[in-house]
Amino acid sequence: MLKITRFCCEQLERGCVTDKKNPVFSFIAESDHKEVTLKSAVLAVNGEQIDAIGQIAVPYTGRALQPFTGYEATLTVTDSEGETADASLTFETGRMDTAWAAEWISDPAYSFTEKKVSPVPMVFRKTFIAKKRVSSARIYSTALGIYELSLNGEKVGDRFFAPGFTSYPSNLQYQTYDVTDSICRENEIVFTVAGGWAVGSFVYSRINRYAADRQALLCEIRLVYKDGTEEIIGTDGSWQVSEDGPVRMADLYDGETFDATIDLRSVQWHSAAKETLRVHPKIFAECGAPVKAHERLKPISCNQLGNALIYDFGQNLAGVVSLKLNGKAGQTVTVRHAEVLNPDGTLNVMFLRTAKATATYICRDGEQTYMPRLSYMGFRYVSVEGIAADGLEIEAVALYSDLETTGFFSCSNEMLNRLQRNIVWGAKSNLVDIPTDCPQRDERMGWTGDIAVFGPTACFNFNMQRFLDKWLRDVRAEQRRGGGLPNTVPVNGFGFPTTMPEMAIDWWGDACVLVPWALYCATGDRSVLEENYPTMKKYVKACRFWANLLSFGKRRYLWNTPAVFHFGDWVAPDAPKMSEWQRRSKWTATASLKNTSSTVARIAEILGKTKEAEQYTKLAARVSDAYESLLTDGNGKLLEEFQTAYVLPLHLNMFRKENVQKAADNLARLVEKNGYRIGTGFPGTPYILFALADHGHADEAFRMLLNTECPSWLYEVRQGATTIWERWDGLDENGVCPIGDDGTDIMISYNHYASGAVGDFLYRRIAGLEPAEPGYRRFSVKPLLGGGLTDAKAELRTPYGKAASSWKIENGSFSLSVTVPLGCICDVCLPSGKRETVLSGTYDFAETL
Ligand code: BGC
Repeated sequence: MLKITRFCCEQLERGCVTDKKNPVFSFIAESDHKEVTLKSAVLAVNGEQIDAIGQIAVPYTGRALQPFTGYEATLTVTDSEGETADASLTFETGRMDTAWAAEWISDPAYSFTEKKVSPVPMVFRKTFIAKKRVSSARIYSTALGIYELSLNGEKVGDRFFAPGFTSYPSNLQYQTYDVTDSICRENEIVFTVAGGWAVGSFVYSRINRYAADRQALLCEIRLVYKDGTEEIIGTDGSWQVSEDGPVRMADLYDGETFDATIDLRSVQWHSAAKETLRVHPKIFAECGAPVKAHERLKPISCNQLGNALIYDFGQNLAGVVSLKLNGKAGQTVTVRHAEVLNPDGTLNVMFLRTAKATATYICRDGEQTYMPRLSYMGFRYVSVEGIAADGLEIEAVALYSDLETTGFFSCSNEMLNRLQRNIVWGAKSNLVDIPTDCPQRDERMGWTGDIAVFGPTACFNFNMQRFLDKWLRDVRAEQRRGGGLPNTVPVNGFGFPTTMPEMAIDWWGDACVLVPWALYCATGDRSVLEENYPTMKKYVKACRFWANLLSFGKRRYLWNTPAVFHFGDWVAPDAPKMSEWQRRSKWTATASLKNTSSTVARIAEILGKTKEAEQYTKLAARVSDAYESLLTDGNGKLLEEFQTAYVLPLHLNMFRKENVQKAADNLARLVEKNGYRIGTGFPGTPYILFALADHGHADEAFRMLLNTECPSWLYEVRQGATTIWERWDGLDENGVCPIGDDGTDIMISYNHYASGAVGDFLYRRIAGLEPAEPGYRRFSVKPLLGGGLTDAKAELRTPYGKAASSWKIENGSFSLSVTVPLGCICDVCLPSGKRETVLSGTYDFAETL
C-alpha cells in the first residue's frame, strides 16, 4: 500500500506560520512494495494545482497568499504500481510585512546603566475586553530581550527564550500564538521580558545593552469576531509596566531569582511608553527551531554535604531544574549547577568562569513548583541549599531547539554506542536556538568554527533545515563589506577581530561555505546554495586577500598571515598550548582555502555558473600545489610533521597522485608512534579517520577510534563522560582536571560538540551509509569492517524516507540488510567488493568472509 508518512510546509507537519510568499512543501511517501517510484504528485493550495513530483522543496507558485490567513494544502500522489495516496495539512500566513498597528514600548522610568549585568526583568500587562463573540484570536509578539507570555494566568505556548537569538540589528523573529480558545470577555495579558541576549550581559566579556538600552516589547492581539469585524489591541502607552514582578533577576549566565511571595496584583504599576529603538531589524515570522523543554531526568543520587544536597542527574545537559516542594513563605532554596564535581564532592564552578549558574527560589506557603524560564545552565550536578531532601522533588529538564531526530546508529561495541549517545547529547546541549560552543560557562556563543566542523554529523542526527536556515540569515547579515566574517554569529558585540572588513579566519569563517554545503548534501535542497553563494564568493575573496598579502610566486597561495589572526589547530592535544595551536595556522589556513575554493567550485557548477566554477577549481589546484611544494619535501612527507598537517591534504585531495599513498603511510606512522591516540585539533578531527581508512589504513583508523588511552574519544567514555569534551584531557585517570595555564583562561568545558564530528565516520564508514547525490536520491551502502565489531546499524530519515544499513558477522559469514526509500537508488558494496544496485525496498545480502 502507498502511504504519505510525512507532509510538511516549511519543514513543519503542523503549526507552520510563514511570511514567505512562496513557502515550500515536502513529503515522504512509502510503499510496502519493492522498486516503486512516484508517477505523479499534485499539490492543491489556494485553488492552484502545483506539480510536486520534486518532493523535497516544492515552492508554492499560485496566486499571491494573503497575510493573516489560514490555508489548506492537499497532496495526491500516484506510484508506479498505480496506487494512490493523499494527505493534507493546514498552514497560515503571518504578517507578510503588514505594518504593525502597535508601538515598541518600554518603561520610560527604568534607566539601566550598570555594566556586565543584566537588567531587572520588566513585566508588561494590559487588560482588554473582547466585545463580541470571537472566531479567532492571535497574538503576534516580539521583544528586545527574551519574553515569557501569559494570558488570563496561563502560560501561552511552550517556547523558551522567545523571540530567539538573531543578529538584532538586522534580523528579528516574531512569534504567533493562536489563543482563540483562551479568550474570555475580560482578559489580562502579561509579558515578562528579561535582558536575554539583546540587553542582558552576554559574551564572555559580559557586554550588555548590545541592541537596546533596556527591554522593549512589540505586540498585537488580533481579534476576529464572529460577525466578521476585527479589532487590534497593540502595545502602546495604555499598557502598564513594572520591575517589581516575581522574576527578580534573570541572566543567561548567572541564572534566575524568583520570588513566589510576590503577587502581580499588588505590585506598583505605571504607564509604559513608546520606545525609540537604536536598531531597525527586519521583523519576520519565526523561521528557526524554537527552544522547548524535552527530556526530564530524575536524579540518580543525592548526597548531603554540609548544608547542601548534591544531586547527580547522570547526564550532562543544557537546561534547568524543575522543583516541587512544600515551602514556607520567605524560605529560600538555592540551586547551583556544574558539570563536574571537585575531588571533595563539591561542585566545580571554576570552569564556569564568571557564570554564576544559580537558580534562587523564594517560596510562598504550601505546595509549589518552580522551573526557571528565562535562563539556562549546562550541568549534570546541582547543589541545593535551603531545603531537606525529603521535602523536595527535583528533575533536570533538557532545553534545546525543537529538532526532529532523523538518525540512529548502534553497533556491537557498547563504548561506541555511548560515544554516539554523547555526540547526540553534545548536539542537543549546543543547538539552543543557535549553534553554540558550550552551554555552561560564560560563552554559549555562536562560534562559527564549531558548527563548521560538526555540521555533517548534526545533519545525520537531526533535521537541521529550519535551525540552520535561520542561523545562515545571520551569517549573511554579519558579513563585512570585504567578505570577512566574525568568529561568532550572531556577533552580539563580540566577534573579534572584525575591525578589518576582510577579516577572514580559516575554518571558523569557512562555516559560510561548509554549513550550507552540509545542509545541501543532507537535504538536496539547492535553495540553501543559491541563498548563500554570494556570501561564499565574498568570503573566499577575503581569504585570498590574506593569502596574497605581501607574498610572491607560490607563496601567494599559502595562507600565512600572523598566527594571532587564526585559531589554527585549535585544542590539538599534541601541542601544549594555545600559541602552538595558532602557529599551525599556515597548514590549517592553506588547507581551508583549498577546501572552500573547491567546495565553492562544486556549488558554482551546480548553480550553472560554469566559468566561476573553473576559476575556483584553478584556485584550489594552485593552493594544493603551494601546500605540497612549500610544506612537504615533494615526496609525500611534511617538512614539519603533525597529524592535522597530513589529515587535511589527504582528506581534501591536495597531494599529487604519486604522493597520496606515501603521505597516508606517513600519517599512519605518526599515528602509530603516538600510540594510536588522537593529535588533531578542530580542523583535523572530523577527517582523521577518513584520511586513514580511505587510504588503506582502516586498521589504524579503528585502533584510533577504539583507543581508550588519553587522548581519544573512548578515553572520555571510559572516564564516564556523557557528552563530548572540549579538551581530550579534561579529566585525568583520577578524575582531576590536569590542564594548567595554557593561555586559554581556563577554557575547559565538558560539553562541546566539535570533536563529536567523528559521528560522520560512524554513519558513513562503519554503517557505510553515504549520499551519492545530495538528499540521498541515490546513495551507497558500503560498510567498513574492522575493530572487532560484529554488527552495526544506522537508520536515517532522508528527505525521501527511511534509508538503513544493518550488518552482522556470525560464524564467519557477513549479512547485510539495506532499506531504500521510495523512488531512490542504492549502490550496495559488500566486503568482498561485490556490487549490486537496488531500488526501493528492503534487501538482504550475505557472503562468507
Ligand atoms: C570556544 C570554542 C571556539 C573557540 C575559538 C572557545 O572559547 O569555546 O569552541 O571555537 O573559543 O577560539
